[in-house]
Amino acid sequence: MKKKLVVLTGAGMSAESGLKTFRDTNGLWENYKIEDVATPEGWNKNPQIVLDFYNERRKQAAHAQPNRGHKILAEMEEYFDVQIVTQNVDGLHEKAGSTNVLHLHGELSKVRSVKNEDLIYEIGAKSIELGETAEDGGQLRPHIVWFGEMVPMIEIAADICLNAEIFIVVGTSLQVYPAAGLVGYVGHEVQKYVVDPSLPSYSFSTNNVEFIQKTAVEGLQELKERLLGNG
Ligand code: APR
Repeated sequence: MKKKLVVLTGAGMSAESGLKTFRDTNGLWENYKIEDVATPEGWNKNPQIVLDFYNERRKQAAHAQPNRGHKILAEMEEYFDVQIVTQNVDGLHEKAGSTNVLHLHGELSKVRSVKNEDLIYEIGAKSIELGETAEDGGQLRPHIVWFGEMVPMIEIAADICLNAEIFIVVGTSLQVYPAAGLVGYVGHEVQKYVVDPSLPSYSFSTNNVEFIQKTAVEGLQELKERLLGNG
């Protein structure tokens, strides 16, 4: 029976694929106001600004390639029962070959009807414009969880973390809830690893947390060697 390895990833996971993080220097939130582009209020006030923001990011994500860190996590499926819980909305974990990926905050390549959140369409890198509607006549909107909106997958994600036998956090500042709260669901006795070049300010309540102060690519390479016992 393979050990359950749960990996919680954030924007830093895709930094080495050329995609911007949110809160680093020159991050997305330095160049855009969250309330304008990532809230229901922003959407109601000026949907075009929101569509432009996600159209741009959707194109970038579609042209980005998974980095070595994504690929290492995919390779780990040979040795562990790997479940990725990602805050990321790019499809790089799947592109790298990971088969168990849960998107907490939605996916850039998908859009849905404003009238029915279950009416979802896969559009790849395409843009959507005002006036483009779903079959129910609702305007198409990004299939993204905006600030202030529910995170439908959070209960499933919590259950996954509850059952983790090894837990890895990669590339997240752990500043956004409920995602950051998932760490608290992981058993006290479970070994946790945090891979991040600058250590998150998050105060872990348990002691068996090891910080690997490296990038996703370097840190996951080191961690893979150690977990497979040849490092
Ligand atoms: N490798 C690993 N980690 C990195 C790298 C890298 N090459 N570069 C930066 N990081 C780390 C940063 O040190 C930081 O801790 O990635 C983290 C990025 O944090 P954020 O920009 O806050 O991104 P994230 O934690 O994913 O944000 C969570 O906030 O805006 C919302 O919905 C959005 O899902 C996002 C959520």
